[in-house]
Amino acid sequence: MAARYLADADVSGKRVLVREDLNVPLEGGRITDDTRIVAAAPTLRALSDRGAKVIVLSHLGRPDGIVVESLRLAPVATCLAEVLGRPVLTAPDCIGPQAQAAVDALHDGDILLLENVRFHKEEEKNDPGFARALAQLGDLYVNDAFGTAHRAHASTTGIASYLPSYMGPLMARELEVLDAILSDPHRPFVAVLGGAKVSDKIGVIERLLELCDQIVVGGGMANTLLAAEGIDVGKSLRDPDLEPARHVFAKIHEGHVRAHLHLPNDAVVAKELKEGVDTRFVDVKHVAPDEMILDIGPGTAEHFRGTILHAKTVLWNGPMGVFENDAFAAGTEAVGQAIVDSGAMSVVGGGDSAAAAHKLGFAAKMSHISTGGGATLEYLEGKELPGVAALRQAPPA
Ligand code: 3PG
Repeated sequence: MAARYLADADVSGKRVLVREDLNVPLEGGRITDDTRIVAAAPTLRALSDRGAKVIVLSHLGRPDGIVVESLRLAPVATCLAEVLGRPVLTAPDCIGPQAQAAVDALHDGDILLLENVRFHKEEEKNDPGFARALAQLGDLYVNDAFGTAHRAHASTTGIASYLPSYMGPLMARELEVLDAILSDPHRPFVAVLGGAKVSDKIGVIERLLELCDQIVVGGGMANTLLAAEGIDVGKSLRDPDLEPARHVFAKIHEGHVRAHLHLPNDAVVAKELKEGVDTRFVDVKHVAPDEMILDIGPGTAEHFRGTILHAKTVLWNGPMGVFENDAFAAGTEAVGQAIVDSGAMSVVGGGDSAAAAHKLGFAAKMSHISTGGGATLEYLEGKELPGVAALRQAPPA
């Protein structure tokens, strides 16, 4: 059964429970990246304009089923109200009498953000009683939380058994973009992969080897692949377990892949990761035992740029180096610029790469920046996301 879309629902005067992923990074109570709040706002504004009583559910961080003061949603509500340019009401809980009283007081068009659903341990257990208690607060359920769609929790899956359920526009757009590049990409299709670990992304790499024409790899992921080829990468960040990386090469050698894999041949290295440290460019085969690779080198950046410039579709997941430090940002900057210059349809897969695109000023020039981290990776890997599956199985409206 196909999921129903929110645009088709009659929401006027109804209590609409909307699951968003407002899990944003916080430092000392300050939101450091509001991308997810900005991305969720159009759904909430449209519901409010259509006369719904909008009741928003979200998690923040991993409080593990207890109330953690620093993980209250108050700063998120303040930010959301600024982005929407209208008030956002709050409640001290997401179920029970206080939540019920806040819902009962709503007028058509009001927006209420309930407290962090993960303050209840039943949320992550997908407990049916908790899902029912959430469902009791609404007449309709909307899942717009693409970033959390890979979690089978009460507010992302369980609740859909108890209410007429709809897919929100943000979730629908994320799936549409990823489906387009997975099923019928304009070619050449180039994946730019980086970030820390191979083991986390092994399924994605293996799927992309079948789908893409070229894959360029930097970051810690490249260190692990180089080490699996027998290259000594010194003190560089890499997975201790080289088996997943060896599996990638075995697959390539068997010949059942479409893509060419490009690894760095030079690197920027230093003895430690700190401001003002001495750096040098080096062939990856000549990294000293006390050095670590912290960025791709200029030769590699040039080669990756050349590969990316031919692309008609680019998927970017993971930085090429420690871009947070200016001394090691050039590689990530070079691939970001090449993606922009290629004019390709460009999809940035959440997490670190989205942060890099924002920090280095490329975000507005990309075709799509996904709000998902783990969810995007699981979808790219070909897994069904529980949050999406639950909408397909939900009872009829
Ligand atoms: C994310 O940030 O990837 C989502 O909000 C899911 O958070 P989680 O990994 O804590 O489940």
